[in-house]
Amino acid sequence: MVKLSDVQPGSELRWSSGLPEFDRALGGGLVPGGVTLIGGDPGIGKSTLTLQAIAALSSQMTTLYVSGEESPAQVAARGTRLGLDLSGINMLAETSLDAIVEQIGLLSPKVIVIDSIQTMFSESFSSAPGSVVQVRECAAELTRLAKRTGTATILVGHVTKEGAIAGPRVLEHLVDTVIYFEGEPGSNIRIIRALKNRYGASNEIGVFAMLEDGLRGVSNPSALFLARGQEVSPGNAVFAAIEGSRPLLVQVQALVDRTTGNPRRVCTGFDSQRLAMLLAVMNRHLGSQLGGFDVFVNVVGGIRVTEPAADLAIVAAIWSSLTGVAIPSDVVVFGELGLGGEVRPVIGSALRVVEADKLGFSKVIGPPVNRQARERVEDGFLTPIVRIEAAIDAIRQNVRGS
Ligand code: TYD
Ligand code: MG
Repeated sequence: MVKLSDVQPGSELRWSSGLPEFDRALGGGLVPGGVTLIGGDPGIGKSTLTLQAIAALSSQMTTLYVSGEESPAQVAARGTRLGLDLSGINMLAETSLDAIVEQIGLLSPKVIVIDSIQTMFSESFSSAPGSVVQVRECAAELTRLAKRTGTATILVGHVTKEGAIAGPRVLEHLVDTVIYFEGEPGSNIRIIRALKNRYGASNEIGVFAMLEDGLRGVSNPSALFLARGQEVSPGNAVFAAIEGSRPLLVQVQALVDRTTGNPRRVCTGFDSQRLAMLLAVMNRHLGSQLGGFDVFVNVVGGIRVTEPAADLAIVAAIWSSLTGVAIPSDVVVFGELGLGGEVRPVIGSALRVVEADKLGFSKVIGPPVNRQARERVEDGFLTPIVRIEAAIDAIRQNVRGS
């Protein structure tokens, strides 16, 4: 037992993965005894990320990389291609949990990667590898071991279609940290997001580009999500987002097209329920009459935007596509919309404004801000608006002025 007053808050040990973007999503690095689940679609980069991390960690401590999917030769080939120093990495190609636990006992590694948890099975349970029971019990056993020995443990889990095979969701409550990969097919941008983190802020993201020689961290991600330098066409708007603690400018696109049947509402990277609400608000308060149109919304770069602060940018993009009026490329928009058409303040306004300035934008349209950002209103950089109609007016004024 300890007196809580004797405990230094925030003094827990962190081990760097050697990848600053991964460390950021983890809340500062791996925690001894902490169990991290890394989920994502097959082929998105889970094995690449964990191998890069384990290679960096191996120079400082004993590690173990367990693969149930690939042979040592295959993993070595990938490691060589990635240009990693493989000399310190202990690799075990094994799917029997009992054999793995025995090896862990002999080696006492500080960090373990299990790639993937769905390939593991324990003799204690009769069900097949990949079944819910096996996946859950193997993960529970490895979690108990991690807590007992202080081993930082990374479990890789494939996101699977509904069916016989258990996906990582069944493990979320069991582990300390849950990180999912986001990214769209055909794009090399990879985002990892901490959906749950006992040791840090949830929703923190790390951004990577998947290159020939592996995952490379992107320290200034805003530039990546903007299709700058192109002709501005109607249907585009730039949104000042906050992901975790990080401001991020992302481009949102809308296409509004006359419908030939039931109007379709299709979203990539945005919630379609929210879109339905925004369309209703546009119909009511802008008189948009979108009932006769299909509406497609896309967030560029494969990132998912879940903040209500995105409302106004989505509306601006839809309005722009509907009217054919292009929003000037140096304008940034953010703000939450209420059902009455009111624009609500959102968290991190000052951060969003600073990021827009840093990236060379010349106008921000958003909700009224607190004192910190007020001087940006006075110098004309920020146009505060409180209604959806005023937001559209402000955009129009910038079109005329440019
Ligand atoms: P991988 O890490 O094996 O994915 P997962 O373990 O999530 O299934 O990544 C596989 C994909 O990444 C594969 O399509 C090839 C690509 N890739 C690169 O583009 N560059 C690289 O350096 C590596 C190792 C993989
Ligand atoms: Mg893999």
